[in-house]
Amino acid sequence: MKNINKMSRREILKKGTLGATGVAAATLLGSNTLAAQQENGKVFTSQITAKTAFITGGARGIGLAAAEELAKAGINIVLFDIATEDIPHVGYKLSSESDLVDAKKKIESLNVKCLAIKGDVRNIDDLKNAMQKTVDTFGSLDILVANAGVTQVGAIEEFSPQEIDVVYDINVAGIIKTTQAAAPFMKQQKSGRMVFLSSALGRMGNELFPVYASTKWAIIGFAKSAALTYGKDNIMCNVVAPGLVRTKLADNPYVLGKMMPNNPDSTFDGISETLKPGNPIPVGHLEPEDVAKAIALFTSDATNKVTGEVFDVSYGSLSRSIA
Ligand SMILES: NC(=O)c1ccc[n+]([C@@H]2O[C@H](COP(=O)([O-])OP(=O)(O)OC[C@H]3O[C@@H](n4cnc5c(N)ncnc54)[C@H](O)[C@@H]3O)[C@@H](O)[C@H]2O)c1
Repeated sequence: MKNINKMSRREILKKGTLGATGVAAATLLGSNTLAAQQENGKVFTSQITAKTAFITGGARGIGLAAAEELAKAGINIVLFDIATEDIPHVGYKLSSESDLVDAKKKIESLNVKCLAIKGDVRNIDDLKNAMQKTVDTFGSLDILVANAGVTQVGAIEEFSPQEIDVVYDINVAGIIKTTQAAAPFMKQQKSGRMVFLSSALGRMGNELFPVYASTKWAIIGFAKSAALTYGKDNIMCNVVAPGLVRTKLADNPYVLGKMMPNNPDSTFDGISETLKPGNPIPVGHLEPEDVAKAIALFTSDATNKVTGEVFDVSYGSLSRSIA
């Protein structure tokens, strides 16, 4: 096999930013990009990097991990995040402005360009302005990771109308608005990748997360509809459905306290240990990087002709579900 480090820059450009064999190639080409940048001490980033990814909820967690994974493949990144810790009717803190600034620095340290944009997926103008800025700055919008989301825990009758509204406005209407804002650019380009974040709870019922679970089912229905709509424009629309992931969405006092009400000292690792024995592989949770690799797969050449699919990244727990 040809040594990738010995590939000429012309070959790299011809091949594009992602190679032919999915994540492994993407990662390999990422390091190759760095090698090329270091060639003769010159920086070639702008010549090599032809692609741009727009990631909602990119200031931390799965969104930031996806940004890092794609940046390693030489892809320029736009991090779009509400960057406001406290919003009404959400029981835990979202990202702060400094989280978003730190995330941008992290991405830039990977030798790609990064825009950090504060905005709310509930606001179509925020999204349209941010996408326009993306294309004005980088020339294209190739990858959308519709990832921003919030969770809620409790029994069905506990939720106030405002709590129901906020999770639907962000998780469902927010994803639809994000798609509406991105699609015109991708249609014009006649290419694009949209990756939607659902959840293992979008594949089954759950009495502790009934409202959240229903939003995650809705995302799959919408993503499949987007796949039908945009296939003719060469835009692939797929879903990643993770199990429990170590992020601040799950690892916070509000969620942990509701998941284990009889244990005031409940921790994320404690819940992970409790879940482990019930899973086919002895894993109770994922790290954000595990999910990022699946997201990257749906942006790679390996999935050129794959659309409307759901990728369960759930340590085998979905093996018990119907197909
Ligand atoms: N953590 C898990 O266990 C888990 C499991 C399955 C699916 N998911 C899904 O993955 C996605 C990312 O979750 P995470 O675990 O990284 O959560 P997280 O809370 O760590 O990150 C979510 C990010 O979205 C941002 N955000 C929230 N509302 C927003 C809005 N209205 N507009 C713009 N940005 C907004 C937050 O500020 C935060 O930076 C979500 O859709 C979530 O439902 C998470």
